[in-house]
Amino acid sequence: MDGREGPKGPEPTTSCVTCHTRYAEQILDAPEQRPSGNAGSLESTDPRARGETPMDEEPPVDLTRPSIARVYDFFLGGNLSSEADRQVAGEILAAMPDLPEILRANRAFAVRAVRFLAEAGVRQFLDLGSGLATAGATHEVVRAAGVDARVLYVDNDPVVTAHNSTLAPEHTCAVLRADLRDTAGVLASPEARSLLDFDEPIAVLMIAVLHFIDHADRPADIVARYRDALAPGSFLALTHAENAERLPGTFEAARVYSRGVAQIHLRTRAEISAFLDGWSLVAPGLVPTPDWHPDQAAPVRSTVRQHGMAAVARKEHP
Ligand SMILES: C[S@@+](CC[C@H](N)C(=O)[O-])C[C@H]1O[C@@H](n2cnc3c(N)ncnc32)[C@H](O)[C@@H]1O
Repeated sequence: MDGREGPKGPEPTTSCVTCHTRYAEQILDAPEQRPSGNAGSLESTDPRARGETPMDEEPPVDLTRPSIARVYDFFLGGNLSSEADRQVAGEILAAMPDLPEILRANRAFAVRAVRFLAEAGVRQFLDLGSGLATAGATHEVVRAAGVDARVLYVDNDPVVTAHNSTLAPEHTCAVLRADLRDTAGVLASPEARSLLDFDEPIAVLMIAVLHFIDHADRPADIVARYRDALAPGSFLALTHAENAERLPGTFEAARVYSRGVAQIHLRTRAEISAFLDGWSLVAPGLVPTPDWHPDQAAPVRSTVRQHGMAAVARKEHP
């Protein structure tokens, strides 16, 4: 813990997802519905105060409320969005037409980082804020790299976890519905304990998720608590939306996103760097997402300036 006091965290919030599979079926079958506006924020640690259902209860699927994962899936060209997701996505696009390209670059980084980690010998992945395990999902990338690795997908969205439990191969993967801020709950969950060996290196993935964690929840401390639970030789891979005033549309898109989907916290490069304290950065360090180990065979030919920062870092021996 680096002598730092942990935040007053949320209530334990983990739950198994096998009983939520019907949600995945519901979203695929549900008729399109009208949006109803604000999806709430993560500002309170009390799920009910945020208009959310505690993790040990089954929330109803509300397709009139845009979801982070489905809006993201829409921008990536997927087919799991509802009418409400697409409506807010249209408003965000009007503010920032480059966003789909930026998100494709984010997903491409995730693929390169997981491949890099698999080639570096990592055989266990803890994918926090995993999103929908569609094209480019962690288990697919490790399989394509020809390695046998275990993946624990963690997300607080029941539709995501239900969907992922139908996609991820059971013998090598597990799916956990949990709030990543509840580090103790995630790390002590039966899913984590039965799938992952904490005496061996684990790669923690926090791809495009830390910007949903409020400053008040002390995200740097959250990252540090995961780091402290890992064996030396473990890794962290992260991306984060940048607070880059020079880039057109950033703030307006963030405002629309925060109002319509979920509160998003843009951070400066220095603030994102703080998440990497106590880790040893893999070259080239914290860089714009497309610049991290660009794929020579299929480089991301970006025509837009990027709004995301990416890094991979290693936990060294004490
Ligand atoms: C933008 S998506 C990114 C998905 C994936 N990591 C990627 O980059 O392709 C962010 C995901 O984080 C999840 N999420 C947001 N806040 C979370 C929290 N506090 N705990 C767990 N998951 C969270 C959302 O439900 C969503 O699926």
